[in-house]
Amino acid sequence: MDLLKAKEVFKKYTDSYRKYGEMIELKINHTDRVRQSCVWLAKKLNLSKEEVEIAEVCGLLHDIGRFEQYKRYKSYIDHETVNHGDFGAEILTENNFINEFTTEKQKMIIQVVKYHNKYRIPKTLREETRKYIDIVRDADKIDSLYIMATKTLHYESNNNKMTDVIMEHIRKKEMVVRQNIKKEIDFLALELAFIFDLVYKESFELVKEKDYVNIIIDIYKNDTSNKELIDQLEEMRTILNNYVEEKLTC
Ligand SMILES: [Fe+2]
Repeated sequence: MDLLKAKEVFKKYTDSYRKYGEMIELKINHTDRVRQSCVWLAKKLNLSKEEVEIAEVCGLLHDIGRFEQYKRYKSYIDHETVNHGDFGAEILTENNFINEFTTEKQKMIIQVVKYHNKYRIPKTLREETRKYIDIVRDADKIDSLYIMATKTLHYESNNNKMTDVIMEHIRKKEMVVRQNIKKEIDFLALELAFIFDLVYKESFELVKEKDYVNIIIDIYKNDTSNKELIDQLEEMRTILNNYVEEKLTC
């Protein structure tokens, strides 16, 4: 079967990178959670069995570029190395992960991998392709929130507040532009602002059900005595919770 073959080839491929250590292991585990979230979301969206399978393959392969990226550069920072979406699309074109799918489906899966991490997605892509891109992007962001909520502290504030311009992004309910990041704690806002880019109502339901906004904000609030940072965190909490509620009622 197409999906089983893809899983088998993926396992063999990623096993060969395990010797590069813990960072590879983290990516394998991330991939597995994203794959499962893609299946969950596709089923919630009432997609057909075949479509759920394609969503699963897209989740499985979305970060396929990460392994060779790490091997070559010992880094996952795209702007200092390669864009892992483009790189993953190249790897899929050159390897046999999906060669049991029809040519048309192969092309679509490769596009999903290429565009899953882009700030803007071309309007010219087919609606079907866009659907799988959105599923992978939502699943990927949900996993970032999961990781943030299950770690005690991911970013150090060193008792500093966040850069002011970062809060402007939050107030405008938009993704944080990476170039505006000046301090480590700004990454907290960057990750929480992923919520503004979620597409499906089901994803917002999950964010609410898991209480990710409050759990993550509380982790950082409990770690600081900086009044200005606490005010920023509370403002973010209100904006994000209201945004999730808005998305659930519209
Ligand atoms: Fe990912």
